[in-house]
Amino acid sequence: MDRILDGTKFTLGVCYYPEHWPETMWEDDLERMLESGIEVIRIAEFAWTLTEPAEGCFTFAFFDRFLDLCREKGMKVIFGTPTATPPAWLTKKYPEVLNAHPDGKRLEHGGRRHYNYNSPVYREKTALIVEKLACHFGQHPAVIGWQIDNELNCEMDEFYSEADNCAFRIFLQDKYGTLEELNRAWGTIFWNQTYTDWEEIVLPKRTRSGNPNPHALLDYARFISHSARDYALLQSKILRKYLKEGDFITTNGRFDHLDNHELSKESLDFYTYDSYPDMAYNADGGRQPSGLRDRESSRNLSEVRSVSPIFGIMEQQSGPNGWTTCMAAPAPKPGQMTLWTMQSIAHGADYVSYFRWRTCTFGTEMYWHGILDYSGRENRRIAELRDIRKKLDLIQEAAGGRYQADVAVVKDYDNCWDLRIDIWHRDLEAASQSAIFAAAQKSHTPLDYVYLSEEGASTPLSSYKVLIYAHPCIMSRKRAAVLEEYVAGGGTLILGCRSGYKDLDGHCVMQDLPGLLRTLSGVDIPEFTRTCPSDSPVRIQWKDKCFEAPVFNDILQPLVDAGEPAEVLGIYENCYYAGKGALLRRHYGKGTVYSLGTVFTEELAAALLEEVQAAEPERKTFTLPECCELAVREKNGVDYYFVLNYSENCAAVEVKRPLFSLFDGIVVEKEMILEPFGTAVLSGLPV
Ligand code: GAL
Repeated sequence: MDRILDGTKFTLGVCYYPEHWPETMWEDDLERMLESGIEVIRIAEFAWTLTEPAEGCFTFAFFDRFLDLCREKGMKVIFGTPTATPPAWLTKKYPEVLNAHPDGKRLEHGGRRHYNYNSPVYREKTALIVEKLACHFGQHPAVIGWQIDNELNCEMDEFYSEADNCAFRIFLQDKYGTLEELNRAWGTIFWNQTYTDWEEIVLPKRTRSGNPNPHALLDYARFISHSARDYALLQSKILRKYLKEGDFITTNGRFDHLDNHELSKESLDFYTYDSYPDMAYNADGGRQPSGLRDRESSRNLSEVRSVSPIFGIMEQQSGPNGWTTCMAAPAPKPGQMTLWTMQSIAHGADYVSYFRWRTCTFGTEMYWHGILDYSGRENRRIAELRDIRKKLDLIQEAAGGRYQADVAVVKDYDNCWDLRIDIWHRDLEAASQSAIFAAAQKSHTPLDYVYLSEEGASTPLSSYKVLIYAHPCIMSRKRAAVLEEYVAGGGTLILGCRSGYKDLDGHCVMQDLPGLLRTLSGVDIPEFTRTCPSDSPVRIQWKDKCFEAPVFNDILQPLVDAGEPAEVLGIYENCYYAGKGALLRRHYGKGTVYSLGTVFTEELAAALLEEVQAAEPERKTFTLPECCELAVREKNGVDYYFVLNYSENCAAVEVKRPLFSLFDGIVVEKEMILEPFGTAVLSGLPV
């Protein structure tokens, strides 16, 4: 078959719900999809009761008829396991499968994702339905792959059922072995929280009176991730038994409290993501400080790429977003559906499936529009879809190409989860991550994300010239050693404030700061403070310029007697630490470490990218206006340049060497004008 993500082509798909429409419409819908360039559909991910209408009674007739029609028409199918929405008969008979509120009160049936991962009954019922579906449909020629559940941890990433309480204790026993060790790790001597029996331990709740134990909460986040992964593994092990050769397992989304890298390694063939750029556009009325709006989605896509270098989009926005209860977004403007599709492809998606074919006329999502509106009449969006298909036919040679980035942002799950608990940490990270991304976007500096764990890095660090690890508050010896090796080998590392002040339990360390990063950074931090919002902003002087240093300030000085001394590049300009170090540089082995004493603002991040000569790596090829994103995918030695104009005005791009424009088959020289929301894919001329 024609597999998706086989490195030879870009495939388009759509999400379809045969159960939402009279069967008489299926044939026409499938034919129209195929005629519009759709080759794959995803189905069934919420349709449990259709296949098990009563406990233990299975019926496959509905999807047999639908899949047979798909085979006849030549449509390929990704089949979803329906476990995000348990049947009403199941939750009624076994209410313990439901998730609970922090006070222990069970959720009621309805909505979705209201189950918990740890209920033995739910796991048993899950295993059975997955086995039955995989066994019955796995060999069907129309089926090409499986989606596990739907958006694990979306809408619900905290669990408080009794089954979770029990599973949490087992998780802790496995991790700590003894209560002494757990009491130490959780610092329970503080406020007399000491446990004397495992049964005394309950799930930590943010809402409980007083303040919950931060170390218990950090373990709770790890526990949720562990539970979700284990639940996915339960399904993937069953699915694998019935997969036809070449068929795949995936899941969609990318949500919090979940180690997507480990999930992917254990259970998936590749990751798929659900891309709704309009949510970023409208999240805060388009007022993000960066002004990037729908372009912010590129950050999520880059994060997905760190899990799967080539990935799929299971749900790509194709209409206005809206639930009856929230969101009321405008329709994508002419060209935006194409722009957002190309944004996904530019970042590494070789499969793009739109959400959804027809807009549902009932239910919570009746304003979450798909390609077609309620009547199914021809409209602007289906015309744009056909045009997208034509465009993709012209760039097929770029499929399978690897995204090129010299710079990566380093992250790790421990710090990501800790910052949901610790507001001191959260304020730094949120500000820095958005500033770094915005500075990279606006300077046309492609960026990757790499995740560090006790097992090492998700991508070899030596693939990057520059790494930015904004605030590795939690640091371990192993991770420090990986960073030391990277820099000693010639890499450049940029660290922000508050690095190295916690250990893996989330305790503050008693070493002088930055703790385990002292050897590498050659920096000493004798003093630090949060900035005071009512004071005048603290400023840094560096390179005859003045930069704001908000949120937090570490006062930096070179560490004495630590090999090559660090040099002070930037100093604080005001406040009681005026004249003290704010930015230090130190050579270590063949590489260099920069230590910044504050959070990354967009200006500081941009200046640092310039300083380390990483900004605008394609400056010899293009001069791009700020409104355009540049992404490069390389395949067989050829660079494919994706230029995306996010503005509703035309954009003029200076092209400094002749390049071939794949959409229009012409050589572009000197200047290229992109239409409002226009896109172009260019490659070097054949020699
Ligand atoms: C996604 C989800 C879909 C649908 C869509 C629109 O998050 O996977 O099932 O709900 O959002 O709300």
